[in-house]
Amino acid sequence: MRAFLFLAGLLASTQVFAQSVAHERMKALQADPVTLQAAVDAGRKASFFCANCHGEGGVAKTSDVPNLAGQHPAYLLEQIRKFGAGERKDQFMQGLIKVLNDEERAQIALYYASVKVPPSKADAAQVAHGKVMFDKLCARCHGANARGNELYPRLAGQQQPYLKKSITHYRDGTGVRNNQLMSIATAPLKNEDIVSLSHYLAQLP
Ligand code: HEC
Ligand code: HEC
Repeated sequence: MRAFLFLAGLLASTQVFAQSVAHERMKALQADPVTLQAAVDAGRKASFFCANCHGEGGVAKTSDVPNLAGQHPAYLLEQIRKFGAGERKDQFMQGLIKVLNDEERAQIALYYASVKVPPSKADAAQVAHGKVMFDKLCARCHGANARGNELYPRLAGQQQPYLKKSITHYRDGTGVRNNQLMSIATAPLKNEDIVSLSHYLAQLP
C-alpha cells in the first residue's frame, strides 16, 4: 500500500511537472512577437490531423465537437493535460493526446488561440432566459461576455450541443469532466436551463 501511494504520488507530480513544462514553454513563446508568430505557424501545421474533427481554423465540423478557435491557450493546455492524465474522459482524445510532446502542445494551443470563432444562430426565447441564468450564475468566473480569461474558458461562440453535453456532464457528476467549481455552479440547473444557456452562449460574438 505504501509503495502504491508513493508511486501514485510520483505519477501525480510528474503530471504536474509535464503541465508546467508545456505551460512555461507557452509563456516563453508568447513573450516575443517573432517567436509567437513562428509558434502559431508551427501549430497550424501540427494541428492538421485535429482539423478532421475540430475543423479548419478550429471551427468544429460537427456540433458535438468543441470549437477550439479563440479559446484561451492555458485552458487548452490544461484540457490536453487532463485527457493525458485520464482526468477528463474521451476515449479518442485520451489516446491521441499522448503522441503530442510539450512543444507541439504549446504551439497548437497558441495557434487555436490566435484564430477567431464565429457566433452561431440561436432561438431568441432561449437566448433571453439563458442570459438571465448566465448573468446570475456564471458571469463572475467566465466574464460578462463569456469570453473567459487565463483561468476560465471562453464560452462565447462555442457549439450549442457541445455546451449542453458538457454542462450536463459537470452537473451530473458522471466523472467524464471533473471540476469542483463547475459541479457547484451547475448543481441548481434544470435541463431546460442548460438548453437556454447553450443557446445564449453559442450566439455570443
Ligand atoms: C476523431 C475526432 C477528433 C480528433 C481528430 C481530435 N479531437 Fe479533440 N475532441 C474531440 C471531441 C469529441 C472532444 C470533446 C470530448 C468531450 O465531449 O468532452 C474533443 C475535445 C478536445 C479539447 C477540449 C476542448 C474544450 O473546449 O474543452 C481539446 C483541447 C482538443 N480536443 C484538442 C485536440 C487536438 C490538439 C487534436 C489534434 C492533435 C484533436 N483534438 C483531435 C474529437 C477529436
Ligand atoms: C467559480 C467559477 C465558475 C463558475 C461560477 C462557473 N464556471 Fe464554468 N468553468 C469554470 C472552470 C474552472 C472551468 C474549467 C473546468 C475544467 O477544467 O474542466 C469551467 C468550464 C466550463 C465549461 C467547459 C468549456 C469547454 O470548452 O468545454 C462550460 C461549458 C462552463 N464552464 C459553463 C458554465 C456555466 C453555464 C456556468 C453557470 C451556470 C458556469 N460555467 C459557472 C469555472 C466556473
